[in-house]
Amino acid sequence: MNNDIVNKIRQANDIVEVISEYIPLTKKGKNYFGICPFHDDTNPSMSVSSDKQIYKCFSCGASGNVITFVMDYEHLDFKNALSSLAKRGGISLSTNFVQKSNNKYSKYYDMYNLSLKFYQNNINTKYGEKAISYLENRGITKELIKEFKIGLSLSDNGLSKMLSNKGYSSLELEYYGLGNGRGDLYINRIMFPLFDTTDRPVGFSGRVYIGKVSSGKYINTKETPIFKKGELLYNYFKAKEFVRLEKKLVITEGFMDVIRLYSIGVKNAIALMGTALTNSQINLIKRLSHDIYLCLDGDSAGRSATEKAGELLTKNGLNVFIIPLKDNLDPDEYILKYGKESFLNLYNNPINYGEFKINYMKEKVDFNNLDEKTNYVNNILKEINKEKDEIKREFMLKKVSNEFDININILRKNLQKLQEYSKISALSKKTHVIEKEKIDKYKKATYDILYYMLESYEATKYYVNNLNYLPNKTERYLANEIIYAYKKYGDLVLADFITSLQDKEDIFNLLKEVLKNTTNSVLNKDVFKDCVEVIRKFSEKERIKDLKESMKSETDPIKKAQILEQIRLVRMGSWNNDKGNKNI
Ligand code: CTP
Ligand code: MN
Repeated sequence: MNNDIVNKIRQANDIVEVISEYIPLTKKGKNYFGICPFHDDTNPSMSVSSDKQIYKCFSCGASGNVITFVMDYEHLDFKNALSSLAKRGGISLSTNFVQKSNNKYSKYYDMYNLSLKFYQNNINTKYGEKAISYLENRGITKELIKEFKIGLSLSDNGLSKMLSNKGYSSLELEYYGLGNGRGDLYINRIMFPLFDTTDRPVGFSGRVYIGKVSSGKYINTKETPIFKKGELLYNYFKAKEFVRLEKKLVITEGFMDVIRLYSIGVKNAIALMGTALTNSQINLIKRLSHDIYLCLDGDSAGRSATEKAGELLTKNGLNVFIIPLKDNLDPDEYILKYGKESFLNLYNNPINYGEFKINYMKEKVDFNNLDEKTNYVNNILKEINKEKDEIKREFMLKKVSNEFDININILRKNLQKLQEYSKISALSKKTHVIEKEKIDKYKKATYDILYYMLESYEATKYYVNNLNYLPNKTERYLANEIIYAYKKYGDLVLADFITSLQDKEDIFNLLKEVLKNTTNSVLNKDVFKDCVEVIRKFSEKERIKDLKESMKSETDPIKKAQILEQIRLVRMGSWNNDKGNKNI
């Protein structure tokens, strides 16, 4: 790929601007900081440099330029990330520039696209009349049907026939969740397409609407290579832009809830679709917003799910609020029964998770049992301890004090103990992060050498003249790429250098490792020269080892003597100096 175009696209997209479109950044000194989206984190460990146009996470080591950020964040390949940034930066690309990505699953993404269109078409035929009236009875208008790309499966194996004509085997249909070996898997169901985080259709949930329910209200796509239930959230892609506007994300249980909310203008909602939150989903949620509104079903199962999800999300550093629904209703039913205004009133006055939890715990306590009662009060204190607002904490304390007739000073004393304890555990967490995997001395020296070369032409020259060797092949290749960049451009722009290695996977990964392991390195000439010395010693040792090895198999006494002489020379340190000064 032409590096000039790539660099032009990179320059048209300021890294601080682009990253702030995904995660909130705050300026501190010269750099910007945000919570890293590439690992579980609650602290702002990702630094974004406006000068260098790169980002680095001090905790997990993720690093790169604006293009790699978009690739990793949006799960796009290089070409698609480039084309999206070109669009953003107002640079037009020739249409054949972005060819279809060579994804080994692209055939199956195509299959899902075809199926989506097929089901959508069905619902608009005369066979779809009943389905449409079913949906309309539930308040789902034609506009919503179109918006959510809702379709219909029929009983004539039509999908199988169509896909077979397009060259898909019945085995493929079965493997990818659309067939059952004999024909269509979905028969006479309203088809809700499920999209992945980049808006590709990858699965379906089919709902019964006529006749007897023989095999469940919904049939969902099973796990396939392109459909991982735990890595997907209903309406995620569409909700994204609305979450950015509203600055909060609503989570519901079912997709009917999402569609209903959308119909009353609450478009920043996603659905869990009947699963417990997975870590991947939490990471997806974190990318959208820090303020989460849980609006799960109002029945006891829903309240228990609220408690579990709230706990997980809070642990991940998110602010969790609850929209409580009465009469055991789900959001869909609530809105149909009590209307838009009533729901919006709840939505605009949510309760915070701590409060919800205190009430939830209360339901389970036998207040005649002294231990249970004590335990409950202690648990409330734990919740109060999590509350950041001092005034709110005070209100909560007073409430407990009155409710249980406990002297407020006793409560305060216990709260203080908890606060001290959480300080200590926060501290031990920090040291844990610092004790990251240790890399051995030679790796460290190698990484520091490469890092310094990236920063300085002088260092690169010094390397060429005094070492010109690194322990392994990929490391030597990376060094050569650096040398080449300086020779060609007279300077090395790290942000461009990163993408120039895009096609060289091993070297690119090594570069990432180098950046990762040197995030805290303060380098100066002396440190650099020491590192060069460490590697020189290492290379000598290796060289001597090799020579000794060849001694063993050598029988010719003259050759043996020659090898011995070589070993002596290496030991004297002249092996590396026989190359003379190179011009670079
Ligand atoms: N679900 C499922 N299979 C079922 C029941 C539920 O996969 N047999 C999933 C669906 O994704 C559904 C979610 O769990 O959206 C919530 O379930 P439920 O509350 O029962 O569904 P509703 O959204 O209320 O659906 P409906 O109103 O159509 O009954
Ligand atoms: Mn429902």
